[in-house]
Amino acid sequence: MKKILTVFGTRPEAIKMAVLALELNNTSNIEHKICVTAQHREMLDQVLELFDLKPDFDLDVMQHGQDLTDVSVKVLSGMRDLFRNQWKPDLVLVHGDTSTCFNTALAAFYASIEVGHVEAGLRTGNMQSPFPEEANRVLVSKLANIHFAPTETNKNNLLKEGIAEDKIVVTGNTVIDSLLYISNQLSDFSKNVKDTVLPLLVEQHKKYILITGHRRENFGDGFIQICEAIKELALANTDFHFVYPVHLNPNVQKPVKQILGALNNVHLIAPLEYPDFVYAMKHCYLLLTDSGGVQEEAPSLGKPVLVMRNTTERPEAVTAGTVQLVGANKENIVNGVQQLIDDKPLYKNMTRLHNPYGDGNAVGKIIDFLKL
Ligand code: UD1
Ligand code: UDP
Repeated sequence: MKKILTVFGTRPEAIKMAVLALELNNTSNIEHKICVTAQHREMLDQVLELFDLKPDFDLDVMQHGQDLTDVSVKVLSGMRDLFRNQWKPDLVLVHGDTSTCFNTALAAFYASIEVGHVEAGLRTGNMQSPFPEEANRVLVSKLANIHFAPTETNKNNLLKEGIAEDKIVVTGNTVIDSLLYISNQLSDFSKNVKDTVLPLLVEQHKKYILITGHRRENFGDGFIQICEAIKELALANTDFHFVYPVHLNPNVQKPVKQILGALNNVHLIAPLEYPDFVYAMKHCYLLLTDSGGVQEEAPSLGKPVLVMRNTTERPEAVTAGTVQLVGANKENIVNGVQQLIDDKPLYKNMTRLHNPYGDGNAVGKIIDFLKL
């Protein structure tokens, strides 16, 4: 029986690997185990609980204010010890672009274990943006034996880097599988969200802009520009609300609370559980974000997205016109949002529902390949 270990550690990896891990648990002829590095703790545990995922191994690496080296060293040695002392699989599945992903792939490579890379082939072509995720992706592509690419664009990026075509499987993005899994069961916010302003805004049909932001390359000046832009927009548009579930990273918490903490129509709330965030996306006016996953989910929900980054490795929705890059630049953010508030035809044009990142069958395609 083939032995497969699925490894993830952060919120987005957990969301995007959850359905795959659940399905692999029930696939015949595959012995499947789950390892979490816990690069994130609370934000990971929210997802584990939601999908009722029970990890077989938990490296518990997160420390507050960790830097890239802290995480990397702990994941690399933790995975080495696991392979050496606890369980040596035939194949390790990693996801995307995080420190967990790269260091797990490296540990597997050192232990002569094959690597399957889920969400392979995304590229901006700029190693500084997103940092360090672009480098992690490029490096994992060198180490992986099989590449599950969400789109044809992603496949072409891999071909250009010399990856053999028969090692690439185009699957769609597993985030759409998770989004559909959750949104099909969704009729309201969960009871856990009751202390936030969200249920009231939805009940009273108030317009709100949903915000997320956490990218490393935006720390410092970028975050100040982002927060100053939100402040200006909130003061100029008092009939709009601005809801920001703030990432737990201290580099994010500090400027956000300092600049936006005292505004009546800006609501800084704790990270939402995934179903509540999906429900909040469904009802928002637009999304302002630097997140990768949100750029993929919002087009499926017909919500316009302004991306507070200069580059994106997800160009498909930008080309389709429902996602727009505004950078971490105050003036561009203010102009971009204000235009979508004032220009209704433009807004309507950006609310087109489409699925450039998949149809919700990515997991099935990955498992079909793994069963071969
Ligand atoms: C990481 C990933 C990034 C991904 C993001 C998703 C890397 C290099 N970065 O960045 O690609 O987009 O996750 O959110 O892998 N914290 C908590 N509790 C949590 C999670 C985080 O307190 O549940 C705080 C801790 O102080 C921690 C800090 O946030 O030290 C930073 O976490 P880390 O995973 O290193 O970086 P992210 O910015 O979250
Ligand atoms: N998300 C969530 N709760 C929140 C904010 C985001 O569940 O309060 C979800 C979002 O729907 C997406 C994922 O988290 O699936 C994105 O995670 P993040 O922005 O942390 O990372 P990235 O996608 O940028 O790597």
